[in-house]
Amino acid sequence: MKRAGLLFGLLAWTLWSRADDGRLLWLGGTAPDSPCRVKVRGIGPTAPHATETTVALAREALADGYRGSDVTLVLDTAARLGDGFRLQGPRPATVTASSAVGLLYGAYALLRRQNTQAETGPYDCMERPALTLRMLDHWDNPDGSVERGYAGRSIWKWEQMAAGRMSDSLRARLCLYAQANASVGINAVVLNNVNASPKMLSRIYLDKVQVVADLLRPYGIRVYLSVNFASPMALGDTRTADPQNARVRRWWQRKAAEIYALMPDFGGFLVKANSEGQPGPGDYHRTHAEGANMLADALAPYGGKVVWRSFVYGAGHRHEDRVKQAVSEFAGLDGLFRDNVMLQSKNGPLDFQPREPYAPIFDRMERTSQLAELQITQEYLGQSRHLVYLAPMWKEFFEQVKPSRLKGVAGVANVGDTANWCGHPFSQANWYAFGRLAWNPELSAEAIADEWLRQTFHTADARFLAPVGMMMMTSREACVNYMMPLGLHHLFKFDHHYGPEPGGFKASYPREWCPVYYHRADSAGIGFDRTVATGSGATAQYREPYATQYERLETCPEQLLLWFHHVPWDYRMQSGNTLWQELCCKYRLGVSMVEVYRDFWRSSTRPYVDAECWQQVDGLLQVQLNDAREWRETCLDYFQTFSHQPIE
Ligand code: GCU
Repeated sequence: MKRAGLLFGLLAWTLWSRADDGRLLWLGGTAPDSPCRVKVRGIGPTAPHATETTVALAREALADGYRGSDVTLVLDTAARLGDGFRLQGPRPATVTASSAVGLLYGAYALLRRQNTQAETGPYDCMERPALTLRMLDHWDNPDGSVERGYAGRSIWKWEQMAAGRMSDSLRARLCLYAQANASVGINAVVLNNVNASPKMLSRIYLDKVQVVADLLRPYGIRVYLSVNFASPMALGDTRTADPQNARVRRWWQRKAAEIYALMPDFGGFLVKANSEGQPGPGDYHRTHAEGANMLADALAPYGGKVVWRSFVYGAGHRHEDRVKQAVSEFAGLDGLFRDNVMLQSKNGPLDFQPREPYAPIFDRMERTSQLAELQITQEYLGQSRHLVYLAPMWKEFFEQVKPSRLKGVAGVANVGDTANWCGHPFSQANWYAFGRLAWNPELSAEAIADEWLRQTFHTADARFLAPVGMMMMTSREACVNYMMPLGLHHLFKFDHHYGPEPGGFKASYPREWCPVYYHRADSAGIGFDRTVATGSGATAQYREPYATQYERLETCPEQLLLWFHHVPWDYRMQSGNTLWQELCCKYRLGVSMVEVYRDFWRSSTRPYVDAECWQQVDGLLQVQLNDAREWRETCLDYFQTFSHQPIE
């Protein structure tokens, strides 16, 4: 009965909607002419129910989308493939895995092969995920709003999350969300905002969380929650949240027992503590390690994890350069965290800027498990209005922070309840690319863009794929150029972080929120001196060769120049231009690139794209172009008041 309801919901949902408004993401391959026969081997009558359910999903995905006549799914527990799989084919095709979720991943890999029209000759390949934890972090609040969400409201409709209350259409939509994640190997989801409401740990909400966990489990996705460190106090059960207080410790132990009784495979807690006004162990003069370990001890009996964020500033080291504060705060705690604690750090030391150097904390915590936090939602990269493909930025990060040193990677999700999930049709590519890179960071950004384009627009025509792929590949650099080239950072308008405000200063704000704190333009030059010799000394936090490279003006990569140095306006750049001229060139180049994208989209892509989607992208490219012009004009006009040179 339940299943019939679900099928009806899915059908209704698809019929009511236009076929191609983007809601099917990259999963909407063309249906096979004749149904494919899927055989399953290796699952006996005594197989656990969970295994059967997941294998059934693998079978359904293939039956619905695979165009070969036969596929065999083989569950071979002796194959030692972990969550990976082996694909052999093409006729008949076989997917072998040693776990049910491996079979599901293998099924999706087979569909991807087909839908990206990869070569059709014989193949025999094996894949295993490079990173153990591949997690999406939602910044969703219980009231349905999404912090830094640009694609509608939260996908979790909490009011419907109670046994028997979920509508079929919501269930169908959440199943699609789960399929999308499973199709790229995402295996963990944090449901709520790091600025966490204590309410999330109340029994009412835990019952709702259980509903989501039950729905996501068959897709190999474990649920985690962001927790407010002061929850026991905020919920009125204790008078303190001091991690050394026995009552507080017992409260967390009881809470863990309650959670695991509802969800035996619950992933664990994500914690933002003593950062941007959130409570934490520092409120009781305890260290981050003491705080994290208390939670870790409560979760350990159940195999749960604590993901503790290093995104702190303005607390213990408030007078220091903001980009140094995470290392200052955490380096001394290396080795003091329990084994089930992981430290999660943003890719850069500041805050998801269009370009940052990598965060040196990744060099400093030798004895602590680490996760990298990437931001899929484009808070500082044009939000859901600019076409900016993020994979090249993430690849840049992985070149310096080797994935083999990480336990996993977390991506701040960009999905909401808008029909196409992500707002900008091309923002879907960032969700896709995040999952693909978490699975295999060796994949090239080009290859991922190409896969995504083929599956999303159902074409193999190089006249579309090559130029649009190129547009995606260059779009992040375009954004850097029109927003803040040469290592400039945080020139954003206050609060919403969308447009430019290079002169932004408010005495009532922490200095770290003010653009003038970062660019430091004056009549001599521009940029933040972070050298050991004359500046904040942030370069010393890096390992060699980066420490020396960044320290010296002559060896500092030009793309990070003004991040690390205060440079005279007439400094000679490699191009022969002065710094001022180069800045003008970069801003102009950024705008020209968007002009090219818009013109190309307008003149050459219409035959390949659904009319509604085409129109939407066309309109958004015009918005992006207008915004890029505004960035160029606002920033150059403002900086000219210091350089006193003409804008060429
Ligand atoms: C940024 C963002 C905040 C967010 C914070 C974080 O500062 O603007 O909305 O809460 O990062 O990552 O904790």
